[in-house]
Amino acid sequence: MSIELELNGEPFRFRGDPMTPLVDVLRTDAFLTGSKAVCREGFCGACTVHIDGEARMSCLVPVGLVENRRVTTIEGLGAGARHPLQVAFEAADAVQCGMCFPGMVMSLACTLRDRPDADRDEIKRAMTGNICRCTGYERIVDAVAASLRPSSSAEAADA
Ligand code: FES
Ligand code: FES
Repeated sequence: MSIELELNGEPFRFRGDPMTPLVDVLRTDAFLTGSKAVCREGFCGACTVHIDGEARMSCLVPVGLVENRRVTTIEGLGAGARHPLQVAFEAADAVQCGMCFPGMVMSLACTLRDRPDADRDEIKRAMTGNICRCTGYERIVDAVAASLRPSSSAEAADA
């Protein structure tokens, strides 16, 4: 079966089983390895992409369900100029192994687009679907806060 979609702003065609998880199509067929397949159960958030502008866990989405829809991966989000979250994560040294980072950014990008005034508690709630096994989360919250309000990194350091 042939399935067409828009992938990072370009037409993309997948030929194969429509029940193939989207994350596998992205990584294996489209060679976009930013989205990680970690738990494959909707538990960790590492596979998060945007489908029609909303964050979705691509391990749970059969590729047949995104026919004629718009899919954006971390590669597409950061194309051209890097997303402010990507810049802030790097500046705050908020990434260690990096497995959670793409999914975390994709989830938070949606949340913060809709709630640009999010405070630290809201940021923490927005991260509940994304697991990081390395950082202890505080540096990630610092990075996200800094991406919203550059002066907040200094506030975080004082907290
Ligand atoms: S790999 Fe999709 S939620 Fe963990
Ligand atoms: S940096 Fe390793 S899982 Fe988050």
